[in-house]
Amino acid sequence: MRTIILNSSQVHQGPLLLINSSHPLPESYSPSLVCLPCGSGVLMERHAASLLQACVQAAGGTRQIVPVSGYRSQAEQQSIWDESIASSGISFTEKYVALPGCSEHQTGLAIDLGHLSSHIDFIRPDFPDEGVCGVFRKLASRYGFIERYKEGKQNITGIAPEPWHFRYVGIPHARLIEEHSLALEEYSDFLSQRPWRYAQEGGRRAMIFYVHCTEDKTAVTIPDCCCQVSGDNQHGFIITLWEAE
Ligand code: DAL
Ligand code: ZN
Repeated sequence: MRTIILNSSQVHQGPLLLINSSHPLPESYSPSLVCLPCGSGVLMERHAASLLQACVQAAGGTRQIVPVSGYRSQAEQQSIWDESIASSGISFTEKYVALPGCSEHQTGLAIDLGHLSSHIDFIRPDFPDEGVCGVFRKLASRYGFIERYKEGKQNITGIAPEPWHFRYVGIPHARLIEEHSLALEEYSDFLSQRPWRYAQEGGRRAMIFYVHCTEDKTAVTIPDCCCQVSGDNQHGFIITLWEAE
């Protein structure tokens, strides 16, 4: 066993950050970004980008699945918000555009995808359940992505259903979130109720649990294995322990 010390600042770091109107982007957040291929000019956080490409490839969608919007700066989110209000009004905008400073696109971990066509709507791209898009949707959680704004969760997320918006949270979290039909807003409470064991395809097992951040430094004793820590941008840390391969 070994003891790791988690600083309270780590609550605001990692791929499992909850970003919404009550949980804005942490000030210090600065992702390492790469450009997605196909000359799209769309940027995404490096690790999420490589898993996105692997998932698009596995779905056979390299030609037909188009990255529409990935990383956005504060200024970009502000201008999307302002333009949407001017063209479509505040009620539409509040449903489909996050407040500047409160968009997970600003983390680089979110991507809007569209099906290739001569006109792709920037705010609400068409990403149907059929064909390669449907195959991508089915595979997404195996690559660490969740469909973030689902039908039936609008009262929790504050955003209307967006079948085109995927958020990288990592494996095995995406599988757990999907299997239990959770919104990201519900995940920390779900984990605080009890630790979860998760067997990934291929056999590698993970254990996931939640630790509340109570002080400036929180000590956690864990077994000697590979450990990943992500803050949730709320009250604590999500710890993932991987069994040795
Ligand atoms: N469309 C999502 C909610 C955003 O603007 O971040
Ligand atoms: Zn989006």
